Amino acid sequence: MHHGVTENGLAEDTAVTVEQLSLSSIPILPRSRTAIPNLGFTRSHHRMDVVNHDQFQAWNGAEGAAWAKPPKQGENRGSTETCQRLIAIAGIGPEDRVLDIGCGTGTTTLLAARQATDGSAVGVDLSAPMLRQARLAATAAGIGNAVFEQADAQIHPFPDGAFDVAISMYGVMFFADPVAAFANIGRALRPGGRLAAVCPQPPEECAWYVIPVAALLGVPPAPREVVARYPGDRPAMFSLSDPARLRDVLVRAGFADASVEPARVPLNFGRTADEAAEALLASGPARYLVEQDELLSWGEAQARLEAALKPYESSAGVLLPGAQWLVTAHAPGSLGKRRQPS
Ligand SMILES: C[S@@+](CC[C@H](N)C(=O)[O-])C[C@H]1O[C@@H](n2cnc3c(N)ncnc32)[C@H](O)[C@@H]1O
Repeated sequence: MHHGVTENGLAEDTAVTVEQLSLSSIPILPRSRTAIPNLGFTRSHHRMDVVNHDQFQAWNGAEGAAWAKPPKQGENRGSTETCQRLIAIAGIGPEDRVLDIGCGTGTTTLLAARQATDGSAVGVDLSAPMLRQARLAATAAGIGNAVFEQADAQIHPFPDGAFDVAISMYGVMFFADPVAAFANIGRALRPGGRLAAVCPQPPEECAWYVIPVAALLGVPPAPREVVARYPGDRPAMFSLSDPARLRDVLVRAGFADASVEPARVPLNFGRTADEAAEALLASGPARYLVEQDELLSWGEAQARLEAALKPYESSAGVLLPGAQWLVTAHAPGSLGKRRQPS
């Protein structure tokens, strides 16, 4: 069942409506000749439908707020190189209309918009605080062919075939029903349109996740045990980390010629272990773990993280190993055929 929620609030099943930002609310004139697809977000009273409620709550609460904070100087959360890898595999052409799923604060959306010089990029995300940050970043960078909208990508009624390319950086693992979500994204692509996504490999390859979580749980950094001991529901982060499952989800969602290639890019949490510990403690998952443990004080949590991260300090920052899947696939239809310029 779909529930209505407001852009800022968490109310469900209410008749409250909010005025959504219109596509023309970005104050810089688009450079593009191609119109930005109208997603049904034009200035009107609009109720957003959400099926991924837990994710909506998480990304609009402490976790969203922590991610929305601009990174400190020197901290890039390890994503710069991965973002560039994503953009490279997406093969974005100058006239492409790009959809960025789970765009967060918009880093990849803006990179895509720069490639689509005569096209456009639309970033969608559940998180209002992150979208606000994304809009500010677009304005600061003077990028006029990118817009950001709040939507649950699993069910949002994107117009059929409105996009040439869909991209996602760590944004596709959180769907309650991944087959439905990818099918919805496939429907938003033109026939033969391209999907490019990055998601994490299994926890054994992701010390960036296992080391801090193990430290906070007070258990040895044994990947499977750490994931199993995570309180509450199994973390969604690794839901697509098995490449066979990933391919199966894509095929069941109607995508063709799925390719899943490995990459190995470490994550950078800060300049020093104490800064990295502080940054992690501001993030949703770490806060959640501290709040779950009545016996763990914030000071003790900071000390445990610092000790666990110390061995990873380097002149380039606190670098923790990470491995990713670089995923590409095509929506059904004639492969690779680009839309004719209008
Ligand atoms: C790990 S963050 C990645 C954000 C960004 N792509 C980046 O690399 O910094 C995951 C993002 O996916 C978004 N997300 C999760 N489920 C979603 C859904 N069903 N629809 C839209 N966005 C979703 C979250 O709000 C969050 O911003």
